[in-house]
Formats: sequence, structure tokens, C-alpha cells
Amino acid sequence: MKKIFVLGSLNMDLVMACARIPAEGETLSGSGFFTNPGGKGANQAYAAARLGGKTFFCGCVGDDVFGSSLTENLKRAFVDISGVRVCKNTNTGIAVVLVSNGNNRILLDAGANGEVTVQDAENFLRNAETGDLLLAQAEIPTETLHGVFLYARRKGMKILFNPAPAKTELKELCGMCDLVLPNETELEILSGERDVERGTELLSEYGADVIVTLGGKGCYFLPHGGEGRYFPCPKVQVVDTTAAGDTFCGALSVRLAEGAEMTESVRFALRAASLSVTKKGAQSSVPCRKEADEAEMIFK
Ligand code: RIB
Repeated sequence: MKKIFVLGSLNMDLVMACARIPAEGETLSGSGFFTNPGGKGANQAYAAARLGGKTFFCGCVGDDVFGSSLTENLKRAFVDISGVRVCKNTNTGIAVVLVSNGNNRILLDAGANGEVTVQDAENFLRNAETGDLLLAQAEIPTETLHGVFLYARRKGMKILFNPAPAKTELKELCGMCDLVLPNETELEILSGERDVERGTELLSEYGADVIVTLGGKGCYFLPHGGEGRYFPCPKVQVVDTTAAGDTFCGALSVRLAEGAEMTESVRFALRAASLSVTKKGAQSSVPCRKEADEAEMIFK
């Protein structure tokens, strides 16, 4: 089994439910406030470890109580956190998450996530071997991603990139990866195209395979230079979609690291992501391996 190296953000999520998003100048009552370990990087590492992957994580936290609580949560899921650096006089990343009708809107303060350097990432990947996976997202500096992708390619690693949050400058990075995993909104920002099939075709021209996650509609997979294919996802009662995409990325990495075919890996990832939306929160919603395996029977 190959190892999974996740590079990315850690955020403490401050979550509240509301009937609708407040308009400018308006004050509304929300409910059910809770704090929950999050951050796209940490969520993906947490998911990969909980679903059975040998997982290593690199990122930065501040020297505050949120930072230690986030790293402890990864440790409890058996993520190797020796690649986490504590930055002095910096706050840990914060995400204010508003959940309305099961969907979320997120406001970020990057804090220490903005401090992750190429040097941090190269130290982290020093013991990685050919064929090991690097899984990254875009809540850390773009220059760091660029430097580390070059390094990972030289080492013969497989690079999986979730370009979230999307910005046009990430297009160049997509050409350095083996697999790019945007959602529909991110695909539109990167390709300039609303239509999923046309947008995916344009993004794949950078040279990578592409999987577009489509929420309750499953996903669309286009191997570079090949034929596109839709995968439906199981129908479930949606409670909170936060970290569904992260669970998908973590789960997919696990099956690929185990040597499974892409088709089987995608189906497994869709099952895990579907289970995650039936629970509240980010890392608190990620299923374990047994639940994801057993769901194959339930979702048939
Ligand atoms: O993808 C979900 C995550 O995005 C949340 O946990 C939040 O921290 C933001 O990074």
C-alpha cells in the first residue's frame, strides 16, 4: 500500500445554523452554535486516515488553543502529524461556517495557513517514495504549492489536487498534477465554462485527469485524452454538506493508494462522501472504513 501525504490547511470551524443568510446591515438569530475541527487539508487527512490510509500531514497552526486542539484531533485519527509546525504570534486558521438548508457558506481567516513554506513541504516529503500520493488543496500559499509540486514530481509521486478555494492563478498548477478534483463552482472559475463536460474538457487540456464532484448528482470523471463518464451517488437525507468534497478526496486517495482501479475508487469515495452529509460538521461527519464498506450493501 502506498503512503498518502496531505499538505494543506487546518481551521477551527465556528458553525451556526440559520434559516437564511443575513442581508447587508441585517441581524438574524441563528442556532446550534458549535466549534469543530476543519480546514480542507486537515479534513482530507482525517478522512484518509479514518478510512484506512497510511496518512501523513503537513501544515501550520498558531500558538493558541485551537492549534493544539486541531492537531490532537488528527493524532486521535492516527494521522502522523510530525509535519505540523507551530507558528509564534500567529492565530490558527478560522472558518466561520453558516449552514442554511443543509448547504454551507464559509468565511476564512487563513492565519497560520498562510505561513506554510516550500521548505516545510520538502522536509515533509523527504521520506516519500515513487508512487506515493501527494494530496493538496488551495488554502495555503500558491507559491508553496508550485514549489512542492515540482519537488513531488521529481520524486515520482502521484499528485492529486483539489483546487479549493478556486482562483484563476491555479490553472497553471493543474498542469503539474495527475488528477485534479474541483467541484462545479471551482471548475467554472478555472475553465471559464459553465457546462460541466465542456469545462472538464478544457481543464483536462492542461494534462491531468479530472474528476468534478457534483453534490447530490455524484461526479463526472474524464481521464486525460479519454472518454468522460458520470457516476451517480447514493440518495441520503442531507443534514450538512460541509467537508463532503474533502471526504471524497480523502476516500479516493485511500483506494488509489491500495491499488484499486479508478472506477472502484470513485464509487467508494462517493459512498463515503454521501455518508458524511448525513452528519453535522467537518471532521465530525467523516465515516470510518467499516461504515463506508458496509454502505455498499445499504446503497445497492
Ligand atoms: O471544505 C470544508 C472546509 O472548508 C471547512 O472545514 C472549513 O474549514 C473550510 O476550510
